[in-house]
Amino acid sequence: MIIMIDFGSQTAHLIGRRLRDLGVTVEYAYPDEALEKIKTCKPSGVIFSGGPDFVDATNAPTISMKIFELGIPILGICYGWQLISYLLGGEGKITTKEFGPETLHISNPVDIFQLPKDTCNVIVSHGYTVTKLPPGFVLIASTERVKNIAAYDPKRKLYGIQYHPEANHTEYGVDLLKNFARDVCGETIHPTELNPQTIIDKIKKTVGKKKVICAVSGGVDSTVTAFLIGKAIGKQLIPVYVDSGLMRPETDKRVEYIFTKLISADLEIIHAKKRFLKALAGITDPEKKRKTIGKLYIDIFNEVAAKQNEVAYLAQGTIYSDVIESKGSKHASHIKSHHNVGGLPKDLNFTLLEPMRTFYKDEVRMLGKKAGLPDDVVNMQPFPGPGYAVRIRGEVTEERLAQEIQADTIVVEEIRKAGLYKKLFQCFAIMTGAYSTAVKGDERAFAEVVGIRAYESVDVMTSQWAKIPYDVLQKISSRIVNEVPNVSRVVYDITTKPPATMEWE
Ligand code: XMP
Repeated sequence: MIIMIDFGSQTAHLIGRRLRDLGVTVEYAYPDEALEKIKTCKPSGVIFSGGPDFVDATNAPTISMKIFELGIPILGICYGWQLISYLLGGEGKITTKEFGPETLHISNPVDIFQLPKDTCNVIVSHGYTVTKLPPGFVLIASTERVKNIAAYDPKRKLYGIQYHPEANHTEYGVDLLKNFARDVCGETIHPTELNPQTIIDKIKKTVGKKKVICAVSGGVDSTVTAFLIGKAIGKQLIPVYVDSGLMRPETDKRVEYIFTKLISADLEIIHAKKRFLKALAGITDPEKKRKTIGKLYIDIFNEVAAKQNEVAYLAQGTIYSDVIESKGSKHASHIKSHHNVGGLPKDLNFTLLEPMRTFYKDEVRMLGKKAGLPDDVVNMQPFPGPGYAVRIRGEVTEERLAQEIQADTIVVEEIRKAGLYKKLFQCFAIMTGAYSTAVKGDERAFAEVVGIRAYESVDVMTSQWAKIPYDVLQKISSRIVNEVPNVSRVVYDITTKPPATMEWE
């Protein structure tokens, strides 16, 4: 077993997931519980995760020096590496900031750093670097801007890396974690796959004879959630689709198809566009929007439950990336309140049932497929619960919603026509709230700028913007400025995650 010390990184749990995929057992601990946990679990190795703080800042999370006296191998990732260096006499400071993809040059490919290539692409996300290695450490790798990006102390088996091996867009990241687990910690590697039946059995045991309202949106996460619950408890499941008016136009039909043809359940559809637009009137702050939407969804589910007997659970398709961005661990930063996690009101009348809460998007797809959902359902592009509201910067009005829907429909149509839809994780339009000048028919127009976002991702935690052919972008741009009223220009968002999140709000 390996113990992961969680210093608040967005990806501490993802590192654990990578090890779990390799068949290695992982336990999590906050830094102040670490020694106690090590005493009870006797791990073969320890990983220090990244975190949002600077190691020398007041109140930054730290760890007892005793951990270095136990003789257990330690791999420090990002903040974890900075902390190892800081505690053992290295030096560091806030220097060159790097966020996103970088090229790693391994100058000393030894020990766990013997990877298929010595030059590879990695994901970095830091604003502090180790400027002088602690005594006993040997330099392994650098990027153009940061010298001490990987190093190790061969005697004490301490490893430090400034990049993120757990990120899907880091080349040979899993190889490095495997080398650490197998060669340094002595763990047996036996890749394992998730089994939907285990989840179905657990749901059956938890729910018993009670009823479950399941919030469905036609998206992958809530569909897989409802499908597994349906398999566990049959007609005790009541899927509820709230038509907020903020979802893609074809969603109603899709939900009906899924919940009548694929899952025979008594689907309830609540039409609530007017209520949502009324609640959102005048709100421009993204967090306030998300919380307003989260609360309204719950109000509606309460109303549905009041008409039923014995509803004890509210099921949601929450997945781990929703949880961690909504400050899902003690030292983590709050990035945004996903409507189904940080956007929920405190006084819920139900117990939450979230069987996908510890999984990532690709795992949810795999569970859905293994449980029997068709490919077109498990592979469809995700669409966020707050819908178009978080793709309209500023106030959501009827008029801007109509513009957004029209622009977004053009993006999806053209991407489909070009045969790119299935290759992309998501693609959509954004009403940016920025205004610019245009000349339309010899007249000056000062109108809104529409943004286009399209990217590839596997697990939501990292993404690369898609290299869409120029002619497709041109087609999208021409159609939007010509067909959508009051739009002056179209821009393409070429930012990776990190640092940018996928949605604009
Ligand atoms: P971000 O913007 O956080 O998006 O990088 C990651 C994934 O989550 C979706 N998303 C949401 N889904 N409720 C949801 O159900 C939300 O509040 C929410 N916010 C973002 C987003 O579309 C992307 O797939």
